[in-house]
Amino acid sequence: MRIAITGTTGRVGASLARLLAARHEIISLPRTVCDLADPASLNAALSRLECDVFINPAALTSLEAREDDPRLAMRVNSAAPGKIALWAAEHGARMIHFSTDYVFGGETTIPLTEDMAARPVNAYGRSKLAGELAVLAHPGNLVIRVSWVFGPEKPSFVDQIFDAALAGHPLAAIADKLSLPTSTPDLSHWVEALLETDARGILHACNSGIPISWHGLAEFVVREMTVRGVLESCPDVAEQILAEMPMFRARRPRFTVMDNHRLSALLGQAALRPWPEALAEHVALRGASR
Ligand SMILES: NC(=O)c1ccc[n+]([C@@H]2O[C@H](COP(=O)([O-])OP(=O)(O)OC[C@H]3O[C@@H](n4cnc5c(N)ncnc54)[C@H](OP(=O)(O)O)[C@@H]3O)[C@@H](O)[C@H]2O)c1
Repeated sequence: MRIAITGTTGRVGASLARLLAARHEIISLPRTVCDLADPASLNAALSRLECDVFINPAALTSLEAREDDPRLAMRVNSAAPGKIALWAAEHGARMIHFSTDYVFGGETTIPLTEDMAARPVNAYGRSKLAGELAVLAHPGNLVIRVSWVFGPEKPSFVDQIFDAALAGHPLAAIADKLSLPTSTPDLSHWVEALLETDARGILHACNSGIPISWHGLAEFVVREMTVRGVLESCPDVAEQILAEMPMFRARRPRFTVMDNHRLSALLGQAALRPWPEALAEHVALRGASR
């Protein structure tokens, strides 16, 4: 297939571009070629594009910046995906768009299924939900919600903990917020398999396992580093709570654990790989490449 991918300098886009290139023709559309904030740039990129599938992981993701400029967030995270979806519908292409667990408000304590109502509590979540609706207005498209993404392409929270622990800095992380992380190598394999299906609508794509907080993830990372000899002894990680984080101006939902059974059923797997296995692999790679 000819597959166009945006956001190829980001975690998800870079991982997809690398994995899918083995079996497909990839047209990479980084911001320098296709700026989703600039309608003229997007129109120009679309006008010369021919593809079977348009994958759109590009997004403005910083929560605080989105509170400060919600109109820009709407342009990149909603208006641009809507325009791409219209172009795809008119050109017989399928669109696969990425979204977030932050479309949920975090008020429940049961795993969130795809048919549960989304009630975002910040500008980022609202812009992503609007993007989902714009993409799904055209039948056949797929919206994949991910959460707490980690992988080798670009540092994320777990890498900040890895680096801070290695440098001997004091460690602290938020303990009163739960989700399930998404590994980019796993996600890319799932997307590769989904290309061969006609999966449409919304799909929750996170690893399996027991829901975890950032504090739990941080403790897991330093334990793995110690077991693998990257650290001599396992440091403590202090517990923080959301209410103690004045630098978080955007509200964060406390519980965004997604139910991933629809995806595992589509892939014909009893369960998706548990996050501890994927994260242990990530820490091992980081440890080996020091
Ligand atoms: N990371 C997470 O934990 C997480 C959690 C939930 C959902 N998600 C969703 O997953 C998707 C992929 O996220 P990610 O982790 O790969 O994000 P990321 O690492 O922050 O990458 C974002 C990508 O979007 C590109 N981009 C930003 N503004 C753009 C613009 N105006 N025009 C074109 N490209 C632009 C960036 O390009 P530059 O490098 O040029 O800035 C980068 O390639 C997003 O839809 C995000 O909402 C991510």
